[in-house]
Amino acid sequence: MDLVLMVMFAALTGCSTSFQRGDELSAHDRRGKADAPKSYSPAHVPCPEMRPYIRPADGLSFQEAAWLGRRGNATMPALVDVLERAAITGLDIRVYLQSLLDSGLGLPRIGIAVSGGGYRALMNGAGAISAFDNRTSGSTAPGRLGGVLQAATYLSGLSGGSWLVGSIYTQNFTTVDSIIHANGGFLSELWEFNESIIEGPATLSVGDYYRELLDTVNDKFDAGYNTTITDYWGRSLSYQLVNATDGGPGYTYSSIANDTAFMEASIPMPIIVALERPSGQLLIWENSTVFEFNLWEMGSYDPGNPAFAPLRYVGSRFTNGSLSADSECIAGVDNVGFVMGTSSSLFNQALLQLARTEGAPDLLVRSLNATLSRIGEENRDVANWPNPFFQHNIKNNRNANSSVLSLVDGGEDLQNIPLHPLLWSHRHVDVILAVDSSADTPTHWPNGTALVATYERTVANYSEHNAAAFPSIPNQNTFVNLGLNSRPTFFGCDPVNMTGPGPLVVYLPNAPYTYYSNVSTFDMEYTTEERQNIIYNGYNVVTMANASVDAQWPACLACAILSRSFHRTKSGFPAVCVDCFNRYCWNGTVNSTTPAAYDPGRIVKSSGAHSRTAFSILFYVVIVWLFSA
Ligand SMILES: *[C@@H]1O[C@H](CO)[C@@H](O)[C@H](O)[C@H]1NC(C)=O
Ligand SMILES: *[C@@H]1O[C@H](CO)[C@@H](O)[C@H](O)[C@H]1NC(C)=O
Ligand SMILES: *[C@@H]1O[C@H](CO)[C@@H](O)[C@H](O)[C@H]1NC(C)=O
Ligand SMILES: *[C@@H]1O[C@H](CO)[C@@H](O)[C@H](O)[C@H]1NC(C)=O
Ligand SMILES: *[C@@H]1O[C@H](CO)[C@@H](O)[C@H](O)[C@H]1NC(C)=O
Ligand SMILES: *[C@@H]1O[C@H](CO)[C@@H](O)[C@H](O)[C@H]1NC(C)=O
Ligand SMILES: *[C@@H]1O[C@H](CO)[C@@H](O)[C@H](O)[C@H]1NC(C)=O
Ligand SMILES: *[C@@H]1O[C@H](CO)[C@@H](O)[C@H](O)[C@H]1NC(C)=O
Ligand SMILES: *[C@@H]1O[C@H](CO)[C@@H](O)[C@H](O)[C@H]1NC(C)=O
Ligand SMILES: *[C@@H]1O[C@H](CO)[C@@H](O)[C@H](O)[C@H]1NC(C)=O
Ligand SMILES: *[C@@H]1O[C@H](CO)[C@@H](O)[C@H](O)[C@H]1NC(C)=O
Ligand SMILES: *[C@@H]1O[C@H](CO)[C@@H](O)[C@H](O)[C@H]1NC(C)=O
Repeated sequence: MDLVLMVMFAALTGCSTSFQRGDELSAHDRRGKADAPKSYSPAHVPCPEMRPYIRPADGLSFQEAAWLGRRGNATMPALVDVLERAAITGLDIRVYLQSLLDSGLGLPRIGIAVSGGGYRALMNGAGAISAFDNRTSGSTAPGRLGGVLQAATYLSGLSGGSWLVGSIYTQNFTTVDSIIHANGGFLSELWEFNESIIEGPATLSVGDYYRELLDTVNDKFDAGYNTTITDYWGRSLSYQLVNATDGGPGYTYSSIANDTAFMEASIPMPIIVALERPSGQLLIWENSTVFEFNLWEMGSYDPGNPAFAPLRYVGSRFTNGSLSADSECIAGVDNVGFVMGTSSSLFNQALLQLARTEGAPDLLVRSLNATLSRIGEENRDVANWPNPFFQHNIKNNRNANSSVLSLVDGGEDLQNIPLHPLLWSHRHVDVILAVDSSADTPTHWPNGTALVATYERTVANYSEHNAAAFPSIPNQNTFVNLGLNSRPTFFGCDPVNMTGPGPLVVYLPNAPYTYYSNVSTFDMEYTTEERQNIIYNGYNVVTMANASVDAQWPACLACAILSRSFHRTKSGFPAVCVDCFNRYCWNGTVNSTTPAAYDPGRIVKSSGAHSRTAFSILFYVVIVWLFSA
């Protein structure tokens, strides 16, 4: 933010005091804590006993290793519950899983990855998560999948998918239902997508909203940090995803590590993905360095910057991996909205619509316009972080000489599903449930492009020995010709055909089960009805409409979850699983003919399970019939 802007701001508000919200926020703590020292502005905090430092990415952090130790068997009850319900004939789940524990082989380790794709991805992903969540009403009835979420170890999100992950975790891992059916309750103000991000929440005047955006970002700039459009973007997202009253300026992502349920290892570990953009480079190559934000660290295991920085202290002045004795520790850079904004920085351009908003104070719009033009078109999608890897690993780190670390939207290298963190070999993920809400085809449906991108990257060995093997993935034409993008498909079913140990990938592409959820990525406004319909369609995508499309689907998903462990224990496959794999595994067939335009029809006809409209029509018909009889 420049001086002109500050002056304009002061002129507009008639004063120069900044908002003091820190106290208010720390007073209530029903969820992740507002533990930033000075609201949105980073500030000094006492250094912990062990001074923060940058560590090489040669294994998991000690925190993650300890947490995994606790999570290790904590997934047992949920796994038993969901796998028993799937009714795999001839397999005593409880006995089998207990034998895995007893023999030290470990339980199946599940990762769930939620793709990018703006609000469409948030909503479609939310439907998937609600289907997997055993707290969702009806989700533990026969044929349902509630409990998969409780059985998962990792939950990764990218861009629009990161909004879902970040929002749920800052609400103390609440359910999707409690946000969208809050009935005037505490969470009903969240996810109000009919109140566009450009205008802000209904509870604030447009003027106040913009003033708060500018104020918080100004504070950060004044504290000496490099601010970009992503700061505004992250702030505005936070009014929809974190707190509708004030956008939770003091909520940090790292504070989630201290939430009770997470510390007890009773919920999965969230990971958000972004990409590094070396200074002076505009295009994101497929060999880009993929960064992750887990709750303790940010960094990468890629060759470009194989190192991790302690997330809470990421703003401290690290030089070549350490803090000099006289350097203070700085906290508050990892504002949760800024982390989500970084992962979705492609949407910065949405803020360009600001200028057209009615009621936006002219001075503020002009200030924002000025910021935009100062930053320059080619840098609009950038999030600038203080660079904790300054002077570190000079040989490979292309940002070693920059005090600023530029990160961009996690999907800019086309790897739109956040698989990368789940492929770190040290994490030993057995199965990835990959929820794809990408808009690849001209009709805004996925066509496998995200999987192809990750596949090509692994073939080219960009992550070297640190990455698990990734299954072979066919080209997009094959996806469309074989219908692999219109129903769940398993990749890497046969571990012997893989180049090394690696997960089975359950691909869950967005498709029109009950609603045409193929809305445009840059559509920034939705009615409540559209929101519910898209979320409900996402629920149907992963449950195959509560197994009404295939009664065996829950068993087939259970087989995919258990598959790697069957191989480890050299157990035979139950007959159901053999049948499932024949039907759901991609078997190597390729058809590269250019397909006709992809324009799928509705999968569940109106008689489908849980169609309220169908029910109402039926009710109406019965009434009419009764009266006319
Ligand atoms: C949002 O923040 C306000 C003000 O700090 C607080 O009163 C309110 O409880 C918060 N809302 C939620 C949903 O946490
Ligand atoms: C968060 O939810 C857990 C239950 O999962 C509960 O035990 C805990 O008290 C909640 N935390 C806060 C601060 O409300
Ligand atoms: C999980 O491990 C803990 C500690 O080793 C043990 O007390 C507990 O009984 C185990 N739970 C199961 C389901 O095996
Ligand atoms: C969901 O799963 C967890 C872990 O198995 C369990 O503790 C909890 O009671 C379950 N909740 C419901 C509503 O089934
Ligand atoms: C912000 O970063 C850009 C690009 O690295 C640099 O040119 C500029 O001087 C930085 N501004 C501040 C205030 O650090
Ligand atoms: C989490 O709690 C520990 C110990 O209680 C504390 O040292 C640490 O600073 C807390 N971390 C965050 C991010 O609040
Ligand atoms: C990534 O690819 C680009 C373009 O092909 C190449 O110039 C660059 O050296 C590569 N970087 C790494 C780290 O392999
Ligand atoms: C801001 O910029 C846009 C185009 O970039 C322009 O249409 C608009 O008039 C500008 N608004 C102000 C107040 O300068
Ligand atoms: C798949 O998506 C990619 C990326 O948008 C697009 O270039 C390609 O034409 C699509 N192919 C098919 C068959 O849909
Ligand atoms: C492989 O799958 C295709 C359909 O995707 C099917 O036509 C073909 O028969 C299958 N091949 C084998 C060997 O099962
Ligand atoms: C098996 O591996 C080969 C060689 O990598 C590959 O071409 C083929 O598609 C793979 N088959 C399956 C079903 O993944
Ligand atoms: C390949 O897909 C096209 C549809 O695009 C279809 O017409 C053709 O029959 C398929 N070829 C084979 C060998 O199945």
